[in-house]
Amino acid sequence: MVTLQYDPALPEARSDPFPLYKRLREEDPVHWSEALDAWVLTRYDDVVAVLRDPRFSADRSRARNRLAQEAMAAAEEYGRPGRGNTMLTSDPPEHTRLRLLISKAFLPHAVEKLRPHIQEIADQLLDEAPEPGRLDVLMDYAYPLPLIVIAELMGVPAEDRAQFKRWSDDIVATLGGSFSSPGLVERAAKSGHEISEYFREVIAQRRKQPKEDLVSVLVAAADEGDDLSEGQLLATCIVALIAGSETTRNLIANGMLALLRNPDQLEKLWSDSSLVEPAVEELLRYAGPVQCTARVAMEDLEIDGHAVEAGQVVFTMVAAANRDPAHFADPERLDITREHNYHVAFGSGIHSCLGQPLARLEAHIAFSTLARRIPNPRLATEALEWGPSFILRGVKSLPITFSA
Ligand code: HEM
Repeated sequence: MVTLQYDPALPEARSDPFPLYKRLREEDPVHWSEALDAWVLTRYDDVVAVLRDPRFSADRSRARNRLAQEAMAAAEEYGRPGRGNTMLTSDPPEHTRLRLLISKAFLPHAVEKLRPHIQEIADQLLDEAPEPGRLDVLMDYAYPLPLIVIAELMGVPAEDRAQFKRWSDDIVATLGGSFSSPGLVERAAKSGHEISEYFREVIAQRRKQPKEDLVSVLVAAADEGDDLSEGQLLATCIVALIAGSETTRNLIANGMLALLRNPDQLEKLWSDSSLVEPAVEELLRYAGPVQCTARVAMEDLEIDGHAVEAGQVVFTMVAAANRDPAHFADPERLDITREHNYHVAFGSGIHSCLGQPLARLEAHIAFSTLARRIPNPRLATEALEWGPSFILRGVKSLPITFSA
């Protein structure tokens, strides 16, 4: 019998990981992955329990596994400026302080004010699509939309977006460890340097001349003694740009692909755009972009009879939890009218996604605009290429045709 192993280097870990998640959940829900040198959890209750358990740290530098050591060696070799702890990788009380600094900008009422402008951007992108009756949902729409929004919020020129995309694609490609060629690791390091230099410059400008943007808010917090180091300031800018764009991009593209592959659901949404809110929740559950996050055990403990040692890494597979039949009826089915959809696509506990209101607003606008303006969409090809990250899963391009 072939033993069941989760190996993120397998192509299906990116193209279609769901059959593997199902097997793991059924046969080995607290799984030791040799490839990851870490535990892999696929049941909803286990994932949520770990994400809410203070015995686990989000500071990956505390990990004692092979991959963390390799990542640290690569950071030494290539040097990565701006890699101070951000809220994503810190624990309370530091996490609480860092999160508070920028949380105001992402509260639902602050975000709701952006609605007319986001709508304008969505319409303009479709107006500018290069060919009538054809659209690359990823390149023409899903990638620029959230990137323009977050760039504007941060106060950096949206015209620099091709450069932001290259930098963040390179950095995201190596998230979760070096399951990639050495070339990719070098590129990520080079892009890390370039994006840091870019933001160093922006920070210096805002110091001289503050504006009404997120970078100015962070600079003021750092300068007013909020105990935000220069490295943390820089790292927070980089994380906000990447977290605010790569994720929503992949939700729009993966979500559209899921709809195209379930034409009855697409038809339902296209004929009744009042369904857009439950539809986006279902797309987050069924085709969410973030497959997993990770925590480090801070003490020896047990998960369902398995001994987890202090310093070991635990991958919480939120995308697998979202298809756990213990919590979702008929979980492998896309149902845009699903009720009580308590998915964990945005994580759980103190690190749960700060950008949720913005991501939801962008996705509501993105899908309702497509439904209004892109009649009878069809996939132009089944030959889709998936990006290199098993953590942030998404296609590189999504060409469709439609009735012009
Ligand atoms: C569909 C889109 C998105 C998804 C699926 C998503 C998913 C997630 C997940 C799963 C986490 C938890 C990570 C962990 O526990 O280790 C997270 C955290 C975070 N997300 Fe998002 N995200 C999305 C969009 C955004 C947007 C638009 C922003 C805006 C800037 C954003 C900013 C953040 C930040 C700052 C954190 C860290 C929060 C903390 O550590 O306290 N995300 N996100």
